[in-house]
Amino acid sequence: MTPLEEKEFYWGASIAAHQVEGGNRNDWTDWEARTAELRVKKASGKVWPEFILKNYPSPLDEETYVSGKAADHYHRFRGDFDLARGIGLNAFRFSIEWSRIEPEEGQFDKKEIEHYREVLRALRERGIEPFVTLWHWTLPIWVVRHGGWKSRKTIFHFSRFCRKVAEEFRHDIRFWIVLNEPGLWTSEAYLFGFKPPAKRNIIATGRAYFHLVRAHKEAYRALKSVNTSFSVGISESGEWIEPRIIPRPVRYLFHYLRNYFFLKRIEGFFDFIGLNYYRRSALMGPGGGAFSDMGWEVDPEGIYYRLRGFWQRFHLPLFVTENGIADARDELRPKFIQDHIEEVMRARNDGIDVRGYFHWSLLDNFEWEEGFWPRFGLFEVDYRTMERKKRESADVYADIIRNSKP
Ligand code: BGC
Repeated sequence: MTPLEEKEFYWGASIAAHQVEGGNRNDWTDWEARTAELRVKKASGKVWPEFILKNYPSPLDEETYVSGKAADHYHRFRGDFDLARGIGLNAFRFSIEWSRIEPEEGQFDKKEIEHYREVLRALRERGIEPFVTLWHWTLPIWVVRHGGWKSRKTIFHFSRFCRKVAEEFRHDIRFWIVLNEPGLWTSEAYLFGFKPPAKRNIIATGRAYFHLVRAHKEAYRALKSVNTSFSVGISESGEWIEPRIIPRPVRYLFHYLRNYFFLKRIEGFFDFIGLNYYRRSALMGPGGGAFSDMGWEVDPEGIYYRLRGFWQRFHLPLFVTENGIADARDELRPKFIQDHIEEVMRARNDGIDVRGYFHWSLLDNFEWEEGFWPRFGLFEVDYRTMERKKRESADVYADIIRNSKP
């Protein structure tokens, strides 16, 4: 029986290795070291609210832009899973860092494999189901030397890594997420140039995109060849634009390119879809919702329409694999969680097969090019002491889980 035949509802939280582990050495760490100074300069040209400047590190501190020890989750994972269990989570999404498992080409690090075995054991001991992402935006340095996603070789290298991980953890992992938001990532890394390798090149964008398509398919095959009953999916970000505002042909084209194009290319090579949903589309203009610390407008209805869209197109089980808000003062998050989960339940009541909700994130973490200042955690992290402090919204989420009968 595949885990998707069990029909259990999963309440979880999500993280990605590079954003919380600390001590990584990959393409991002290189880029961070090279660009931190420049980014402080840029940040100092903006006006920041006092409450953001008083947190450490602030957008004006260079440390903000260097992942360094991150939230030290690499050493503190057991404590972090106690926190997750404490609020009633029965699932946890995280990524296995390729640069740890294969720091040099073809050389797999036994110690790091054992580390993740311990991570998986710690989750199981707490009754938490692992959902494992295989690529959440970072690459080993040697892969970048070969050209990263722009190179065809990366397809082979990545699927070999996936096979290795699947063989090592065949008894420990049932849910696999091959790629995280490949479509959005490619445009940010290769077209708009604000994530490494920070290119602005349309041809390179196309190449990286189609290599990711092929890599996904190869990885899917590799995972299934290890165990046919693995459930293998993908996480895609979704954007909804309200019918009334945008003319129909523009809307249709936008939806197709933004929400379905990648999935269409890999149709038949995923068993479920993970939706990452955060905000109202900028294309719609302001809609009267509250704004996060990053200036993203809250729009809970959109999560319903994105789930419905995926369901109508693909008719496969769905998970919300990310949904959260940068809100250092935890003023908006309690209602944000309630309203979005309400919409997820509306989708379920309408017969849409949603199997889980994963909040982004369990902990404050390293928000990529923005650095540490945006605070997404159900638990606040004091980056000086690494102490974790529960936010009120964590209790709100715990109450919802306790009272739910999905
Ligand atoms: C990414 C996360 C990120 C979050 C908030 C998602 O698109 O998968 O890694 O932290 O958005 O920006």
